[in-house]
Amino acid sequence: MASIKEIEWDVFEGLSLADKKPYLERGGGDAMPYHTLFAQQFDRSLLERLTALANRIRFINKSREGALYLKGVLAHKRAMLYFSQPSSRTFLSHLAACQILGITTGSVRDAATSSEFKGESREDSIRTFSSYFDMIIMRSPEQGLAEKMAWELSNSSRPIPILNAGSGKDQHPTQALLDIYTLVRSFENKGGLDGRTVTFCGDLLRGRTVRSLSYLLTNFRDVKQIFVAPKALRVPDDVVDVLREKAVDFEITEDLQAAVRVSDAVYMTRIQDEWDSSKGESAKIDTSRFKFGAQELELLNPDGVIMHPLPRRDEIATCCDRDPRAMYWRQMRNGMWIRAALIAATFGYENEIMNCGY
Ligand code: NCD
Repeated sequence: MASIKEIEWDVFEGLSLADKKPYLERGGGDAMPYHTLFAQQFDRSLLERLTALANRIRFINKSREGALYLKGVLAHKRAMLYFSQPSSRTFLSHLAACQILGITTGSVRDAATSSEFKGESREDSIRTFSSYFDMIIMRSPEQGLAEKMAWELSNSSRPIPILNAGSGKDQHPTQALLDIYTLVRSFENKGGLDGRTVTFCGDLLRGRTVRSLSYLLTNFRDVKQIFVAPKALRVPDDVVDVLREKAVDFEITEDLQAAVRVSDAVYMTRIQDEWDSSKGESAKIDTSRFKFGAQELELLNPDGVIMHPLPRRDEIATCCDRDPRAMYWRQMRNGMWIRAALIAATFGYENEIMNCGY
């Protein structure tokens, strides 16, 4: 078994994501991640196990007895939510996931309220959290920080797992898990996710959810991916390179309506203008043709779904909200179940929950 303890940071950092994966596993041969840092850690078999576990947790939680059982599973653990970038859903759904499993939580949501403000390095802050908690769930504007912290902690005297809840413009693996969970559930009784067409629309250049989900979709058979964005916000080359390497069918276009006509799922995203290098840069881009409204709803197939990681601005008109194909509300709640599944599996409780009497 590869151990992250046996490798220097600069060697680890230089590995491909596929080569990093075995260093991040829990051990014991079950292939579940110990640190969850990027979408490339999940293959189809892990995705199927996590969706089954999320379904199981969701079911058990329906009864009072079941909910109380779940609350006992990780009542001996504490988790730190360390969010130095704005968040509503990702923060709250991780918090709720911890509560379902009985985990006690602490949080820092603003670096100004932590000692980082006094000049403490992030490494020292993380070491501090690891003194009091058994897991760190972290979001940061800095690409690669979660990886660096996972390496640091694994090489410290108190190794604890890190869950990446969004890193820079780069990765958002737990969002991609909830997106896959939503897609799998949406097509569960309609022939499954294999062979479907998924359209991504919006700011595909800077949206980290798109990179992570695009990768996870490559685990399914014959899923075509269509990328719809203005030229300035086109899907980046590294995402396209992965699709080419895996011989995945994909298309890049600016015609949303044509894409909607042939899609089973449309994944809308907002313009990520917090990354603008000068104020107002994104506002100069004409995004008017990259919005989903009443006309697009007409074109979408009756079994299709509309998704969005949220928050939305005006890229999905509110007139779509009550359509049964608008999946973004359920998608949001799915985040709580799949994150509970991931956290339980990270601590090694997958089999116990799957086989419990509830
Ligand atoms: C996304 C994020 O933060 O990357 N939101 C989320 O986690 N639900 C997308 C976004 O902010 O647009």
